[in-house]
Formats: sequence, structure tokens, C-alpha cells
Amino acid sequence: MCGIIGCIGRGSDTLDTLVHGLEKLEYRGYDSAGVGLLDTEIVVCKAAGEISELRKKLEGQSIAGRAGIGHTRWSTHGPPTDANAHPHSDCTGEVVVVHNGIIENYQELRDELEAKGHTFTSDTDTEVVAHLMEERITEGESPERAFRGTVQRLEGSYAIAALVEGEEGLFAARNDSPLVVGLGDGADLDGDGGQFFLASDVPAFRDFTDRVIYLEDGEFARLDGGLKVTTSEGELVSKAVHTVEWDAEETGKSGYDHFMLKEIHEQPRALRQCLRGRVEEQTATVDIGDIADLNPSGVQFVACGTSYHAAMYGAQLIRNAGVPAQAFLASEYATAPPPLQDDLVVGISQSGETADTLSALREASGRGGETFTLTNTVGSTMDRECDHTLFIYSGPEIGVAATKTFAGQLTALNLLSLATVESGRQRRAVVPALRELPGDVQRILDSSSAEEVAEYYEGSRSYFFIGRGYQYPVALEGALKLKEISYEHAEGFAAGELKHGPLALVDEDTPVFAMVVGDGEEASKTVGNIKEVEARGAPVVVVTDGQSDAERYADHVLEIPESHPRTAAVLGNVQLQLVAYHIANRLGRSIDKPRNLAKSVTVE
Ligand code: AGP
Repeated sequence: MCGIIGCIGRGSDTLDTLVHGLEKLEYRGYDSAGVGLLDTEIVVCKAAGEISELRKKLEGQSIAGRAGIGHTRWSTHGPPTDANAHPHSDCTGEVVVVHNGIIENYQELRDELEAKGHTFTSDTDTEVVAHLMEERITEGESPERAFRGTVQRLEGSYAIAALVEGEEGLFAARNDSPLVVGLGDGADLDGDGGQFFLASDVPAFRDFTDRVIYLEDGEFARLDGGLKVTTSEGELVSKAVHTVEWDAEETGKSGYDHFMLKEIHEQPRALRQCLRGRVEEQTATVDIGDIADLNPSGVQFVACGTSYHAAMYGAQLIRNAGVPAQAFLASEYATAPPPLQDDLVVGISQSGETADTLSALREASGRGGETFTLTNTVGSTMDRECDHTLFIYSGPEIGVAATKTFAGQLTALNLLSLATVESGRQRRAVVPALRELPGDVQRILDSSSAEEVAEYYEGSRSYFFIGRGYQYPVALEGALKLKEISYEHAEGFAAGELKHGPLALVDEDTPVFAMVVGDGEEASKTVGNIKEVEARGAPVVVVTDGQSDAERYADHVLEIPESHPRTAAVLGNVQLQLVAYHIANRLGRSIDKPRNLAKSVTVE
């Protein structure tokens, strides 16, 4: 998804700061990049492809600027070309803009502007912003007024930054798309001067400051050696400065070949952070603050992708405690919204910015529903808009494939369920397993044979994943992880569902990964399903704690420590993450930035 960086007050480092910021935003996924620098004139340089292409274009040019903006584009209107890359300019080149999101009424605005004689040079929706500003400035409005007036004509989602020749600093506005200001050396809210940053996401400038201000929908900012934040009517807004807790090192690869592998290995620490101060083993208590006072009569989960798999798991936890709960794909929620009664609507989202999930939460909130988000991102739109937030505290996740945050989501869902709807008996059974979880994950990381399994099965026609109960969402997640980073065909199924159709696809070229936990009825039924696929010639990889006799029917075994079935889901998933990673790595895929995908999906 697109990324924005802007800065002022960096002197001769302006260009380097912008390019550095763009590189830090690469994890969001993009297909072109560009920068615009304001000096006596505005200079724009942009290129389709990776940031290295932009660097090549910048080589040998001495581009200076007091202020600048940069952008990584993920195509929505028009293919990834130099012309469609941001920044976009007006007819004179004196106004340049970058934009994240989608301007829904852009065609109508473009028709209007073309009728007035404006010439467009790209296919993008964004370019209308520059021409609308030009129109107003030509009519005599100040650049600040022109920016405000322009933004008020836009319908849709946007985070926008603009430069205007002859004007000090940069302008910014947001609606449904995140934008954050960073206060660097010498910058404070009452002062004049110092370094200011603007970005769609903190990692873009985290190397330079940990002091941030989150802009809200409908707010405008002017960064000109000071910071002025106003409403759309121009009234001053007073903003709080927040401190970002994590450091820049956490966004580096720390010697791993890929962020995904680093993040898989960070899971023990991430889980400790999630559990710290929240579970007490002696007394089997769970402390998640006031959230524990919630007493929902039902729970509706809304989420997408990996977070949806976590939602399925969460719904099972709540239902098993006797409270009605259902997981909805966020993009489908509003098509037939379920009755709310006194249900709690829980949006699960790593980023806290996913448009489909936000939209479902807003739909529920609009009907008077109480909303809750379980997220990794402090200050995200969901965190700010929902009635309640539970953080998973996984730390920044850079790889597009969600790994440690899925583990964090499952763990935090246990805390939510145990604290709100479950009994003391259940807490006594689960809290010790939660306390063991970071160590158990570490044991898997230290001993996994996933790499050999990946080597053995790489090149198969299809990969199937099966599980029951809490292991069913993990089977879906195992398949999603493999397909998104390896581009190989993979499907996850409820183990009992295979015989109702998918079994027709099974043969010796379709390895089946089966999750088998414990020695109860679920395990023995899944063993029955393993026998069914084995009889059709499929190789079987069993992910198991060794309590059942599943290993007898397996071609390969991926072991997990004995645990509670709920925490075993986190453990089994680690093995599947490693299998997906090693298959994709052997195939030479772009693991951290898979083709066509983006880390934060801020369009519906
Ligand atoms: C999974 O690896 C993907 N990154 C994707 O499915 C992701 O989980 C989904 O887009 C939702 O993102 P969110 O958790 O930030 O809302």
C-alpha cells in the first residue's frame, strides 16, 4: 500500500532523509517511488519499480531542498509507470502532491478541470489535487486556503502532502488514511524552527525521532519550521505529543535474510511482551484492566486475512465459554449486517488501518454498537475510534506476511476470553499454558525440521492443510502463509470437510499437512482423515504433540511440545510458518514483499 514521507528542517540532508524514509516504507508494498523537493523551485524525480530505480535517476543530480515530500505508490488508478508515480504536479509544476487512498469523485473533478483547460499527464486520481490547487491559487487564494478548499472537494480516502513553490514548508491533510507528524531535533509545539517529519507510518522517520503527533480525520497540518494543526474550518487544534516505545533497531533485519524469518524468531519475545503483567500463574488471574468489566451477551468479530483466522479462533474461544460469537470477513459484514442486540463488535487488525475492517467497525458503531479493537498499532485509526482497545504488543512487523502478530492475536484473544467470559476453572487450565508459551515456541525454533520438510516437498502440485477445532483456523493460516509468499497453490480445510469434495484433488503430488493435538476425540477423528488421504496416495506431514498415534501414518513429523489445545494452535502455526518460509526461500521468492500484496490495505 502507498507510503508518504515528508520533512523540513533537515538542511542538506533533505533528499537523503526522504529516500531513507521511502526505504523504511518499502514493507508496505509498492510498485514505484518518487520525491519532490522545494527550494527556489520544486524539483520532482520519480521512477517505476523499486527504490533502487529512483536512486539511479537521482545519481549525479544535485537536488537541494529546504523541505520535501516522497511517496511509494501501490497502483490503483493506472499501471506502475514513471508518469503515474507520485509526486504529481499541476500544469505549472509549482504545486506538487503525494497521496495515499482513493479519491472517489476524481473523474468528475478531472472532467471539470480538463474543461477549464488543465492538461493531465497521468492516469491517477491524485493529479486532480494539484490542478484544483492551481485553479484556486490562480484565482488569488493563498496556498494554505487553496489546499484546504481543494481537500474539502474530495470524496473518498486520503492522506495528502503538498508543496507549493514560493511557500515555506508543506501542507498535509487526512481522511480514512493514517498520517503522523514527527518532532525531531529542536522541534516543539510552541517553538519556531527545528526538524519536522510527516509520514503515513512511524518507521519512515523513527531513526530521527520518537516524538509523534497523530493527525485525525478532517485535520489539516502545516509544517513550516513550526507545526500548525487546524480543523477544516481553520480553527487551531491542540495536539498531544506521544512517545514511540520501540527503537529503530527493531525495524532492521538484525542479521536475518528476511524480515519474515526475523519476525518468526521474535515470537518468544513478542509473546512475553503480550503477556507481561497480564497473567499471574499462582492465582491464575488475568489482568487486562477495565476491559475485564465488559460482559457481552454476544461477540461479533470482523477482520481480514490472517486476522480473520485469528477471529475464527477467538469466536471458538468465546462460544466454548457459552457466549454466542461469530467471525465475519470484514469485507462481507455490511452486505447483511447481523442484529447487534448487546453484542460487542471486535475488529482484529495488526495495522489498525485495514479499510475493510474499519468500515465494518464504523457500520456497527453507526448502528449504536459497542466497538473493540485488538491491534498491534498504538495510535492507529481503530485504536482511536473504537470504544475499547487491547494491544497485542508484538512490536513492529515489517514483512508483509503476518507471523508474530498472528501469535500475538491468538494469545491476546485468550486473555480477552479468560478475563471477560470464562470461569476460574478455565483460567487455572489455560494460564499455565500461556506462561509456558514463549518457551515452547523457542523450543520449536531451536529444533524444527521444517527446512528438511520444505526441501522434500518443494515443487509439489498443491499443498493441503487440515485441522479441527482450534487447529482449523491454523490450517487456513498455514495455507495462506504458503500461498502468499511462495505463489504455490495451497488450501486449508476443516479436516472433516475433505471427504465432502476436496478429497477428489488428493493424490501423490499433494502433500497434506495435518494438525493433530492431544489424544481426544478431535485427534482420533483427524487421524481418521489422515488415513483417508493416505489411502489415496497423498504424502502426510503431521504437526503433533505426539499424544495420539498420528505419527504412525505420517511420512514426516513436525513436533510441538505438549500444551493446552488452545496454545497448541500457536505452536503448530510456528512449524507451518517455517515450512512456508523455507519453500518460498528455496523458490527464490520476494518473501518480505510478495508480488501484488501490501502490508497495510487501506482501500476497500
Ligand atoms: C497475511 O499475511 C496478510 N498480511 C493479510 O492477510 C493481513 O492479515 C490482512 O490484510 C489484514 O491486515 P490487518 O491485520 O493489518 O488488518
